[in-house]
Amino acid sequence: MSLKIVLGATAACLIALSSASAMAAGDAGKGKKVFNKCKACHTIKVGGKHKVGPNLAGIIGKKAGTADGYKKYSKSMKASGIVWDEKTLEQFLTKPKKMVKKTKMGFAGLKKASQRADVIAYMIANGK
Ligand code: HEC
Repeated sequence: MSLKIVLGATAACLIALSSASAMAAGDAGKGKKVFNKCKACHTIKVGGKHKVGPNLAGIIGKKAGTADGYKKYSKSMKASGIVWDEKTLEQFLTKPKKMVKKTKMGFAGLKKASQRADVIAYMIANGK
């Protein structure tokens, strides 16, 4: 093998590694604890009941304001046009009222980026 190929393979490997670690930034195990803050108002179990807030099962890839059978959405949530993914959840959970003005979600937000990443990882792992 020539040196060039070895170097190229090493670089590709490094790129693969760094993007994998960027995606795995959140820790679902820690996120479970963070989710305790949400539990007063949400479950994430498939088929779980709506509480004050909607059931969050299957939230990734879902359009905001569309959980079946939940009737308490604010107009602003329903009209937001948001599709929930890692980016939009990160933004929403930082400061819910900044992203969705007049949301009924009575939660100030998660200040720490690590808590947001962890809880999002937990939601991805458990909300299917
Ligand atoms: C005090 C109750 C309360 C707490 C605590 C709370 N939420 Fe909510 N949440 C709500 C309500 C109510 C809504 C509906 C908001 C609306 O329609 O404007 C909502 C909506 C949401 C939505 C949008 C759901 C959809 O179907 O579009 C997400 C995502 C969400 N909450 C995540 C969380 C997470 C994650 C936490 C914890 C870090 C949390 N919430 C904490 C009450 C709460």
